[in-house]
Amino acid sequence: MPLSSPLRRENAPNGIPRLAILDQTRLPHATHWLPLAHWREAETAIRAMQVRGAPLIGITAAYGLALAMQEDASDTQLVEVTARLAATRPTAVNLRWALARMRACLQTLTPAARRNAAWAEADALAAEDAARNHAIGQHGLALLRALPRPGARPLRVMTHCNAGWLATAGGGTALAPVYAARAAGIPLEVWVSETRPRNQGLLTAWELREADVPHTVIADNAAGILMAQGKVDAIFVGADRIAANGDVANKVGTLLKALAARRFGLPFYVAAPTSTFDAACANATDIPIEERDGDEVRCVTGMNTAGQPVTARLLPEHTAVNNIAFDLTPADLVTAFVTERSVFAAEAAALRPLFAEPEHD
Ligand code: MRU
Repeated sequence: MPLSSPLRRENAPNGIPRLAILDQTRLPHATHWLPLAHWREAETAIRAMQVRGAPLIGITAAYGLALAMQEDASDTQLVEVTARLAATRPTAVNLRWALARMRACLQTLTPAARRNAAWAEADALAAEDAARNHAIGQHGLALLRALPRPGARPLRVMTHCNAGWLATAGGGTALAPVYAARAAGIPLEVWVSETRPRNQGLLTAWELREADVPHTVIADNAAGILMAQGKVDAIFVGADRIAANGDVANKVGTLLKALAARRFGLPFYVAAPTSTFDAACANATDIPIEERDGDEVRCVTGMNTAGQPVTARLLPEHTAVNNIAFDLTPADLVTAFVTERSVFAAEAAALRPLFAEPEHD
């Protein structure tokens, strides 16, 4: 694919460039485009998860910096806004990676030259992400083609969270192979894990439905029994950060799927662009894990029968909850990494060429 992109450049009525994002907090019930005309609005959109997904928050931050340069292209603004945007979410390294790219491009320019250069570099980041998604899809497609499909029945892929086009500027990471297989005429069905507490699986179901890919939503706790019953052929997930030894930070719940996959002998693939690999983290213990507001666990948000958004309280506000947003999957549970460059074994030695890229210095 992609079917579309969850962000677009546009001009405000006064002709000034701005960004518009598909507000993911309104999905799957409403498709609402939210204009972002100031860098502080980009900062809020990332923090509030109106945009989310590791690659997409990096690209949104890049455009946030372009908005900041439009307002004031001074050195002080460049340094301060970069720091503010980098602090919005801690785990996905793509955020810091994209901001480092922007800063490297802008800091040697005169303030006068920065405004146009910032928009151009953010556009380049978005275009590169889309190209990476496409390449990930093709490498993942080769893995899907190699899976046995007795009686030519559809392949059954399980995924977690949302690592589709809503999480990127292109056709997604973990879902890119699914879309590539669909385009190649390979019949397949997707098990979509709900992904409590933020329910990003519902975003996955929404975009798979848009793409006409057969899928079934499951409660997170159902993943193990489906694997045990032989109803899963492979698991594809995304990643928010991958350490030099191949340990993976991804949405909480990933680790349990990896453990179950190992027990039942199923391939567990992690699809991510090279911008998700972090040479500065030797292993999982170096990866910061985001803990979010407990009300995300205590409450649920949905739509009432009148079509109005509503939030319902599941637990009293004094109930202690833990809302750890990511978990860490040891490299030895990962069958392979699917990147835009190739498929890599989850071992430090095999991954070394990825970290030799100039952008990882
Ligand atoms: O907290 P989120 O929704 O921003 O989570 C990040 C993710 O989208 C997932 O962890 C995903 O699997 C990796 S990003 C394509």
